[in-house]
Amino acid sequence: MNVLVTGGAGYIGSVTVEALSAAGERVVVLDDLSRGHRVAVAQDIPFYEGDIGDDLLVRNIVTSHAITQVIHFAGLTSVPESVGEPLRYFENNTGKVMRLLTALTSCGVRNVVFSSTAAVYGEPEHTPIDEEHRKKPTNPYGLSKYFVEQILDWMDSACETTHVALRYFNAAGATATKGEDHRPETHLIPLILQVPMGKRAYVSLYGVDYPTPDGTCVRDYIHVADLADAHVRALRYLADGGRSRKINLGNGKGFSVREVVVMAEQVTGTKIPVREEARRAGDPSVLIAESEEARNVLGWSPRCSGLEDIVSSAWEWHRSHPEGYRQG
Ligand SMILES: NC(=O)c1ccc[n+]([C@@H]2O[C@H](COP(=O)([O-])OP(=O)(O)OC[C@H]3O[C@@H](n4cnc5c(N)ncnc54)[C@H](O)[C@@H]3O)[C@@H](O)[C@H]2O)c1
Repeated sequence: MNVLVTGGAGYIGSVTVEALSAAGERVVVLDDLSRGHRVAVAQDIPFYEGDIGDDLLVRNIVTSHAITQVIHFAGLTSVPESVGEPLRYFENNTGKVMRLLTALTSCGVRNVVFSSTAAVYGEPEHTPIDEEHRKKPTNPYGLSKYFVEQILDWMDSACETTHVALRYFNAAGATATKGEDHRPETHLIPLILQVPMGKRAYVSLYGVDYPTPDGTCVRDYIHVADLADAHVRALRYLADGGRSRKINLGNGKGFSVREVVVMAEQVTGTKIPVREEARRAGDPSVLIAESEEARNVLGWSPRCSGLEDIVSSAWEWHRSHPEGYRQG
């Protein structure tokens, strides 16, 4: 397969590019480097620095590399940022995706794997959350992704474009060579690890009065290598003629923010001070995935599902990359 990966210089994209290459697929990356890192993509992979909304560029890439399939990771990813800058999120995560999909369709690309999110569900009515759960995003980020899911549904019947929208829960962990280096960083595990790295004095707990056992939010953490594996499987599923689907990717286990802090203390051997703060707008209390669909349809199951494995792998990467990707 000749696969275009948008956002391939980002956290999950770069790990997936590595997995696709290891699986023998031919990969091309398009990333504007607004949040990604050029050094996260191997030099021998064709790389285009540009915008997914640049339809001329997209058409050129598709035709010159005979692209047959796309994995679309590119996007802005911060819930709090989206609450403050909703239009920026709708423009980048929905508007530009419409331009990307138009360019792809005009070039005959008919298979799309899309990075969706658990944020499409909003505040859960029940947990674990299955794919049929009501969709009611509580922030612009989640809504910007849900719009794309609905656009893909309409394209399915109108343009014979099939898709797998993978709704990730919380991506975390690292491989030996690729890790999490978001700027600004908003994800919990790298923020916690900044304390033992000497870059942060304490970790903020945003909300300690949620209806959860210890009052902090509960999330389902999934190792980034397991996410990458699911993308390779989703591409093959579509290439084999599979029909369009929405599929959750999670471990089915939830950990509270306080539990993650305690695990990080164990893994790093460092006391991690916390500061209790007000809730942030748009944060649901509990997000835990029901991932039967991924097992049944993709034959996928997480291999690194323990919180200790996830936090340890992240810690190893941060220790070996104290300045993230900046040191090359
Ligand atoms: N990290 C998570 O826990 C998580 C959870 C659910 C869903 N997702 C989704 O997965 C995808 C990847 O997330 P990530 O954590 O790797 O984020 P990331 O910020 O590390 O990667 C996103 C990449 O997209 C690029 N990009 C953004 N806008 C672009 C544009 N207009 N044109 C070209 N490139 C652009 C950025 O430069 C970056 O390299 C995102 O779509 C995100 O919404 C992530």
